Amino acid sequence: MASGHRAQFSSRLGFILAAAGSAVGLGNIWGFPTQAASNGGAVFLITYLIMVFVLAYPLLVAELTIGRFGASNPIRSLMSIAPKQKLLASSVGIAGMLGVSGILSFYAIVAGWFFGFLIGPVLSVLGFESAAAWLEGFGTARNIVLMLVFMLLTIFVVRSGVTDGIEKWSSRLMPVLFILFVSMVAYTLLQDGAMEGLKMYLVPDMSHFSPDLMVSAMGQAFFSLSIGVCTMMVYGSYLRKDADIPKTAAQVALLDTGVAFVAGLLILPAMFVAQNNGVEIYSDAGALLDGDTLVFSVLPAMFDTMGGAGLIIGIAFFALMVIAALTSSISMLEVPVSCASEELNKDRKTVVWWIGGAIALFSTLIILNFGSMFGLVISVTTEYMQPILGLIMALIAGWIWKRNQVLEELSQGNPELKDSLFWKIWPTYVRVVCPILMALVFLWPVLK
Ligand code: PHE
Repeated sequence: MASGHRAQFSSRLGFILAAAGSAVGLGNIWGFPTQAASNGGAVFLITYLIMVFVLAYPLLVAELTIGRFGASNPIRSLMSIAPKQKLLASSVGIAGMLGVSGILSFYAIVAGWFFGFLIGPVLSVLGFESAAAWLEGFGTARNIVLMLVFMLLTIFVVRSGVTDGIEKWSSRLMPVLFILFVSMVAYTLLQDGAMEGLKMYLVPDMSHFSPDLMVSAMGQAFFSLSIGVCTMMVYGSYLRKDADIPKTAAQVALLDTGVAFVAGLLILPAMFVAQNNGVEIYSDAGALLDGDTLVFSVLPAMFDTMGGAGLIIGIAFFALMVIAALTSSISMLEVPVSCASEELNKDRKTVVWWIGGAIALFSTLIILNFGSMFGLVISVTTEYMQPILGLIMALIAGWIWKRNQVLEELSQGNPELKDSLFWKIWPTYVRVVCPILMALVFLWPVLK
């Protein structure tokens, strides 16, 4: 299947950093901690960890393997494992491509806000108070401008292709992200009030458990590992044949989960440090303030109370968010770009502008109809498309794809795979257990 000159990640580490770069994003540093904070802390953390390893990891292996086998864009890769069901396979590929474009269209808006909060404090120190207020306040023009800036950054990286763009930037940015992150956690944990947040995050209170919490945790796991919308499939297609997929996928899942876990160590204690410094974190009704408010007002308020150090920590935090978002958004844009450039035989550098432009246009539409569209696009793409498409991919990989082909593909990176525990469990697991588990999680709230 391999098409001669196809680009490849140049090293195993490069791939892991790129795939972890895709996985680690706003979903980890913003989505996970805020969900954990509003769903009882430790209980959400435990459910999430179970979801990652019981459901998301096996599907991550499936998606990467399909991609590497096909060594082509997701539409073709899916068709290559289901040659007799080409219509089904190509529809899933196209749906994934549309889904991921929808995700990018809201992701770029949120990432734009983070960019605004990164630049805002710098401008205000330099004396441009009103420009800073404009960047940090909510407004249509500001949302559009910031979204466009972030989309341009994404286009700029994807334009340069796999090794010079995606791999190079992921390998540069991911280590910076880790360093910034660990230093911020260490600092926050030393502040007064931090221990209360730590307790909420690590000591389970089972009374918070509910079927809805399972659905949220599953959605969070799928979103966080970038599953179901062909991103991992397209990265898999650039993976070298000698890479051991189950092992690599485990490393990516561990890194991703590790970052989400550490983000919880940062945000939950930070909330209580903020409270300790006089910032409101609970609404009048006693509920925790919601996600947007937490990150965009509670954290900056905490940074403000820290004086000079707070300014630097604030800038570091928002820089971290922008970096994490960028290494994810490039993996999103790569899906439609690889499909369009290979299927229409067009130059990547041209296609990237057309597709990036179309997605930016759709983002603008969302911004102009913010109240009705923003939440809707998030819910359709992440709550429905990601799990449903992930499920269909698992069914195709489990039931239609020839088992000996799967074994052959996976064995290239690990000749002993045939006798391993992984191979004894995984094929049946993806065929039967994953679909049943996912159906249960979906149906539970309905049947309740
Ligand atoms: N995993 C990314 C995050 O956690 C989001 C993402 C979803 C990336 C789907 C690619 C595809 O922010």
